[in-house]
Amino acid sequence: MSAPAFDLQAWSTQALALVEQALSDWVAAGGVVDAEHPAPAALREGMRYAVLDGGKRLRPLLVLAAREAVATFDAAGVAAGLDDAALRAACAAELIHAYSLVHDDMPCMDNDILRRGKPTVHVQFGEAQALLAGDALQALAFEILTPADAGAPASVQATLCRLLAQAAGYQGMAGGQAIDLASIGMALSEEELRCMHRLKTGALLQGSVMMGAACSARPLPPATRNALHTYGAALGLAFQVVDDILDVTADSATLGKTAGKDAAQDKPTYVSLLGLDRSLAYAQELLAQALTALDASDLPRTRTQALRALADMVVNRSS
Ligand code: IPE
Ligand code: IPE
Ligand code: MG
Ligand code: MG
Ligand code: MG
Repeated sequence: MSAPAFDLQAWSTQALALVEQALSDWVAAGGVVDAEHPAPAALREGMRYAVLDGGKRLRPLLVLAAREAVATFDAAGVAAGLDDAALRAACAAELIHAYSLVHDDMPCMDNDILRRGKPTVHVQFGEAQALLAGDALQALAFEILTPADAGAPASVQATLCRLLAQAAGYQGMAGGQAIDLASIGMALSEEELRCMHRLKTGALLQGSVMMGAACSARPLPPATRNALHTYGAALGLAFQVVDDILDVTADSATLGKTAGKDAAQDKPTYVSLLGLDRSLAYAQELLAQALTALDASDLPRTRTQALRALADMVVNRSS
């Protein structure tokens, strides 16, 4: 008899109940809840608007799925503090992502008016508030990774901060966004386009996987770490390839953001470089690479089901 199919929907619902509650709590006052020093009302509203009620929450799901893949259980259950650290890492990754979307949509970048089915933050609150909401969300991500009273060892907190900073900064999202803006109207080579996509989008997705892995109670063997790194790289690139495809094939209502804008803004994308069919085939090839990396690892199959199902979702999604 074959094993029952993994129910990603049920797994995600359970995982996201924790994430949504934590995000709502942590963004409540525009910062870690501090009744004496709440954020200015307009900033708080912008932050909450950017983070709550929307999005697929893929980055938090990847953190928690990777954490599940590497979790070891002792007599007392799971090693102390690391559940909390994983939830914090999941939320921190989403805060960085939400901030990147706020800035990505601003007139000085992609100039978009629709995000997650709502007017973009700068349309709703003005450009200055959008800029500041993004700034504050980025800072908040690192604040929640480093609680004063928390159970996770300081070394784990430091690792999580380093992974997130690398994924968000010049060698990750911000660096990729800079290449993106500098590439408008240019014909990039496949290698250049791959590099841009790996940085602007892939790095945070891969970083999310590695943050989940950093919440392991035991040092991971290098081969296991490498397998997760390879999985994250393939999935991260696949995600942006599919984002490029959906920009052409889906409508704005389905996406919750303006469709067709890459061509309208003359952005180099996988579709503009390879065409639709080859882009679709490449996304499937990257999915196979991601799954092969897990197959070749020492991680038990029962523990990697969520990672596998998320990779499949990334490549075969419709929004
Ligand atoms: C959109 O990311 C921006 C890219 C990195 C391509 P998502 O498609 O994950 O956006 P949400 O979080 O679901 O809104
Ligand atoms: C954005 O890529 C990547 C980010 C770092 C936000 P896109 O500009 O293609 O994302 P969408 O299509 O606006 O969501
Ligand atoms: Mg962009
Ligand atoms: Mg954009
Ligand atoms: Mg896009």
